[in-house]
Amino acid sequence: LIAATPLFKSLRIGKSLGIDLCVKRDDLFPSIGGGNKARKALKIAEEIERCGYDSIVTTGDVQSNHARATALLAAEKGWKCKLVLHGDPELLKKPSANLLLICMSGAEVEIVDPEDISSTMKRAFQELQNDGFHPCEIPGGGHCIAGGVAYVEALEEIAYQCELLRWNPNYIVLPSGTGTTQAGIICGVEKSGWDTKVIGISVARPSSVGAQVVREMCQQLSDHLDIEMDHIQVEFRDEWIGEGYGKAGQEVLRTIGWAALTEGIILDPTYTGKAFTGMLELAESGEIERGSRVLFWNTGGLLNLLSAEQYLEEILRSN
Ligand SMILES: Cc1ncc(COP(=O)(O)O)c(C=O)c1O
Repeated sequence: LIAATPLFKSLRIGKSLGIDLCVKRDDLFPSIGGGNKARKALKIAEEIERCGYDSIVTTGDVQSNHARATALLAAEKGWKCKLVLHGDPELLKKPSANLLLICMSGAEVEIVDPEDISSTMKRAFQELQNDGFHPCEIPGGGHCIAGGVAYVEALEEIAYQCELLRWNPNYIVLPSGTGTTQAGIICGVEKSGWDTKVIGISVARPSSVGAQVVREMCQQLSDHLDIEMDHIQVEFRDEWIGEGYGKAGQEVLRTIGWAALTEGIILDPTYTGKAFTGMLELAESGEIERGSRVLFWNTGGLLNLLSAEQYLEEILRSN
C-alpha cells in the first residue's frame, strides 16, 4: 500500500441521514492537490516508464485536476509536458489553484477553443517528435486502461481497510465524469466478490451517454485484467448535474456548506458537492435504505472549490 489514503467513519453526518457512513479520503492522496486524478496519474506514470516515453501531451479544462496531477508528475520525473487546455486564455495572466500549479510545474500550456483541441494536440505531439522526444498522448481526464486499473487496485486497498474495520459497504457513491474511476471501482468490487452497489453521480453527462461509457471501460478493464463479469451493471445517475459541468445549483452549495460545518468534510461545486448531494437525497428518499452501510468516495476537488469564486459567498451564507 504505497500510496494508501485513509478511510474514516462519518459519525455525525451518517447519524443524521440514518446510514452507517464511511468516507474514503482520496482527497488526501499523497500528491499536491490529491484526488482521484493524482491516483490515476501515478498509475499512468508507471505505464509511461514501462514504455520508455519521455514526454506527455494531454488536455483538460483550465482548472483540470488531471492536467495538474499530470504536470506535477512530469516535473517530478523530468518529463516534458505539453497541455492543451480549454477555457479563458486571460486566466494565464493571473493563474490560480490548479492552473497556478500547472504553470509552476513548467508545463507548456496552450489555451484553445474546444473545437481546436484535437488539432492542437496533434501539432504538439508532432513538435515533440520533431525535437527528438518519444511522446505519449494521455486522453483527457486520464480516461484510459491504466487510469481504470488504478481504481481496481484502490478496491484492494479499501478491502484491506474494511477488513480491519470489520465493515463493508452495501453502497459506494462517487462523482462520475469520464467514468474511469467508477468503472475501476465496479471491476474492483466484482473482483473482490463484494455484493456492493456502485452509484456514480454524474457531474455533467446525461445517463444515457455516461452509463454506456462506463460500461465500455468496464469491458476493457475486465478483458485487460481477466476479471470474469457475467453482466455489467452500471448505475450512473444524472439528477444532480444542475446546469452542467462546473455549475452548481443552490442545493449543492448548501450541501457543501453543511458538510464542512457538520463534520469538516470539504466538498467542491464541480465534483464531490454534486455526488454528496445525490447521496443525501438517495438516503432521504429511502432509495438507499435506512441503516445501509455506505461508502462515500471523496475524490478530491479542493482546488476546484478554491477557484470557484462565484460560489464562495453563497456557500458561506448557507451556514
Ligand atoms: C475531483 C474529481 N472527482 C471526480 C472526477 C471524475 O472522475 P472520472 O473522470 O474518473 O469519472 C474528477 C474528474 O475530473 C475529479 O477531478
